[in-house]
Amino acid sequence: MFTAKDRMIIALDFPTIDKAIELVEKIGAGVTFYKVGLELFLNSKGEIIEYLANKNKKIFLDLKFHDIPNTTAMASVFAAKQNVFMFNVHASGGTKMMKKVVEESKKINPDNLIIGVTVLTSLGEEDIKETFESKFTLKELALNLANLAKNSGLDGVVCSPWEARSIKEKCGKEFKTVCPGVRPKWAATNDQQRIMTPKDAIKNGCDFLVVGRPITKNEDPVKAAQMVEEEILEGMKEAGIC
Ligand code: C5P
Repeated sequence: MFTAKDRMIIALDFPTIDKAIELVEKIGAGVTFYKVGLELFLNSKGEIIEYLANKNKKIFLDLKFHDIPNTTAMASVFAAKQNVFMFNVHASGGTKMMKKVVEESKKINPDNLIIGVTVLTSLGEEDIKETFESKFTLKELALNLANLAKNSGLDGVVCSPWEARSIKEKCGKEFKTVCPGVRPKWAATNDQQRIMTPKDAIKNGCDFLVVGRPITKNEDPVKAAQMVEEEILEGMKEAGIC
């Protein structure tokens, strides 16, 4: 059972380790879960992982591995050895790749959550047709990839809060949904298109919420994080999951 605090993942989208550390120090004990993407991972030469681990923070390593089974599995072994709580791979890498990732990384860290990326939200229907010559709609493709991820032993997928419910219906309620595109009513939309409030996202089946700028760019990130957590708790209560 995850608490409201455990369900909020702050996206550390910073170009330097110093900027990331400044935020983590400012927020302090109020937040445990941080997402590290390519920008910060590469700019910090991976050192941000050790820093967060030493602070007893949970890490979502958002590097979206996508390669042949052996190469991807070895990258996953790295993630498992770093003791990250969650990392992700592209489900379009195929069943063989995902199964190998699960097999190798769970030997080292059976408790980490391996999350699939289905269709990147930057792609629209036209891109799907052009890239894959696909006769399927974006939603059908995303649901199919989520199902492949589930059948390959992955623990969940990254998805929009608007898709969380249908993914749970197709893949089961234990299959985790990790959702960016979350905006409290008091925050700016920025470049996110299909947003949902933290409370509604939880009620719609999101297990983990990835929140960046509403907290990281806020004048008072501590208060902003508290307000998001409160909304998550409200959503959990209304959904009867706490
Ligand atoms: O600042 P904001 O809350 O929009 O940050 C959302 C985070 O989630 C960013 O790190 C972004 O790259 C990531 N993300 C996303 N949409 C996806 C996948 C990841 O916004 N489909």
